[in-house]
Amino acid sequence: MTSSLKTRGGDGIGALIGSKIFIVGAGSGMGEAIARMAVERGAKVSLAGRSIEKLEQVAASLGDSVLGLYALDLADEHTVDSAIAEHAPYDHIITTAANLTFKPFVELTDDEIHRMLDSKFWGPINVARAAAKHLAPQGSVLFFSGLAAYRQGVGTSLVGVVNMALESLVANLAIELKPKRFNVISPGVVDTATWDMLSDADRQALFQQVSASLPVGRVGHADDLAHAAISILENGFINGTVLNVDGGGRIA
Ligand SMILES: NC(=O)c1ccc[n+]([C@@H]2O[C@H](COP(=O)([O-])OP(=O)(O)OC[C@H]3O[C@@H](n4cnc5c(N)ncnc54)[C@H](OP(=O)(O)O)[C@@H]3O)[C@@H](O)[C@H]2O)c1
Repeated sequence: MTSSLKTRGGDGIGALIGSKIFIVGAGSGMGEAIARMAVERGAKVSLAGRSIEKLEQVAASLGDSVLGLYALDLADEHTVDSAIAEHAPYDHIITTAANLTFKPFVELTDDEIHRMLDSKFWGPINVARAAAKHLAPQGSVLFFSGLAAYRQGVGTSLVGVVNMALESLVANLAIELKPKRFNVISPGVVDTATWDMLSDADRQALFQQVSASLPVGRVGHADDLAHAAISILENGFINGTVLNVDGGGRIA
């Protein structure tokens, strides 16, 4: 059953009660935080990502609010389509998936570039194709880009490309696939497992440096982003847009 509340105007309170949300990247970070917050607001969630162990860990605390667990690579269109088809129609489909390499452009290997495109370019395309078929007419799709789209520097060339591409994609899809809504959140630096590639000392140094540069004086938490995501899902008038949730990073 799809939520009947989302076409009305107003504050969107209660809009997620009884709704169904498919979340790719739900095994960690922002995807996990969105799943938890959506369940607190009465939604049922399906959790997807490549590692079934991570999904099972998240699902363990969400009880019967979990519709299904899907170990999949977002680059595989057929698997994505059949996973989303199983409990369709969904009210919302979200992907936070990212497999990024931060390296000078000339050092990037083809494999590293393919992994970035698979997770944040082909992946969202596959989600959009599935959404065209399996999303409720008044439903929405939410992608995640990132501040690297606007902050150029050594090591972020392809990260910027995949992020910026998503921002253009949502505007077009919001028109082509109307009345389905398409939006993207652009996070700044957020304290998630994404930064586990750094040593503790390097991570702390980075977070301190970023915090000092931001008007809000701190890096983001996964719940900051989950809260923003929930607002977009609940508000049926937000469409074809980019929400910068970066502590002021874009303007600082
Ligand atoms: N954290 C930040 O500071 C930051 C800053 C700017 C933008 N962002 C963007 O915000 C989004 C969420 O970031 P996050 O920090 O929450 O990341 P995260 O904790 O690393 O979560 C990403 C999730 O995506 C899944 N994943 C990766 N590649 C996948 C694929 N090909 N198919 C399916 N699932 C895949 C991973 O699980 P498996 O490994 O099990 O698949 C992981 O659970 C990302 O798009 C990221 O680029 C983050």
